[in-house]
Amino acid sequence: MEAVKNPRVLVTRRLPGDWAARLRAAGAEIVPLPHDEDIALTREEFLALVAGCHGVGCMLTEVWNAEAFDAAGPQLRIVANYAVGFNNIDLGEAKRRGVVVTNTPDVLTDATADAAWTLLLAAARCAGRGERDVRAGRFQGWGPNDYLGVDLVGKTLGIVGPGRIGTAMARRSRGWDMQVIYSHRVDKPEFEAATGGRRVTLETLLRQSDFISLHVPLTAQTRHLIGARELSVMKPTAVLINTARGPVVDEAALVEALRAGRIFAAGLDVYENEPKLADGLAQLENVVLLPHLGSATFRTRATMAEMVADNIVAVLSGRPAPNPVPLP
Ligand code: GLV
Ligand code: GLV
Repeated sequence: MEAVKNPRVLVTRRLPGDWAARLRAAGAEIVPLPHDEDIALTREEFLALVAGCHGVGCMLTEVWNAEAFDAAGPQLRIVANYAVGFNNIDLGEAKRRGVVVTNTPDVLTDATADAAWTLLLAAARCAGRGERDVRAGRFQGWGPNDYLGVDLVGKTLGIVGPGRIGTAMARRSRGWDMQVIYSHRVDKPEFEAATGGRRVTLETLLRQSDFISLHVPLTAQTRHLIGARELSVMKPTAVLINTARGPVVDEAALVEALRAGRIFAAGLDVYENEPKLADGLAQLENVVLLPHLGSATFRTRATMAEMVADNIVAVLSGRPAPNPVPLP
């Protein structure tokens, strides 16, 4: 592909880091945002602003369907997602229109694994309920039967999705001498070498794990991967962690299972209809709820922004993108 002269580039939110200088150095004209403060564009604003752009740095909250590609126009060369997940982008549409799609892998792996462990520890040790009680003045002093949680040492950690983040999650379990098992279509030798993990079927993983952590991308195959039936075969002491994508879990079924005490607790960073929560979820004590902050560290978010710029610059200069998403 030839380089684009004076390309028009939109980055849809006010991102940290050095990304704008990189785009300007490559001769890009950056489309100004309509608001001074950092707020999400409405769909109407988004569709109007992408018009005529050659490159767009976008958020996981922005849906790229035929409507969005049409709104952008045929000159569009690259959609650079400010996320590792890319379920917000219709890859078939991108391919049909010859648009490159990129994401931000690797740089957010440690931050996201740390967020998953934050949830695991908080859910296992009733830290969410404890924190709410202290703040609300309900902490009346130490009690022998208060806030009893589950132990971690020597327990079994089940990783659903042994990719980069799943691997980082499992590696951290060494500190608690955990057994690691994982589910995947095929053996994942890199995961096994890094974690000592053993591949089992999803069914076995659900039955044997004390802690289950989800690290699969959202696809047609993984939507509602964890539903009422899967929850019903977990141990009553199990803790379920989701830092992947909300729709991987049937959230209404999870509310039911937590309410009935069919599992011990859950920790969620993502939701099925973000930012809405399933009815009853926020009223449950045995769930820790975080606001999709997996990659939210200063360094990670700045580096992600620079990756977005580097991918846009590469493609608009006629070079291959450093972080292409394979198109179907
Ligand atoms: C965040 O959810 C991401 O996919 O980067
Ligand atoms: C994403 O980075 C993954 O864990 O595959």
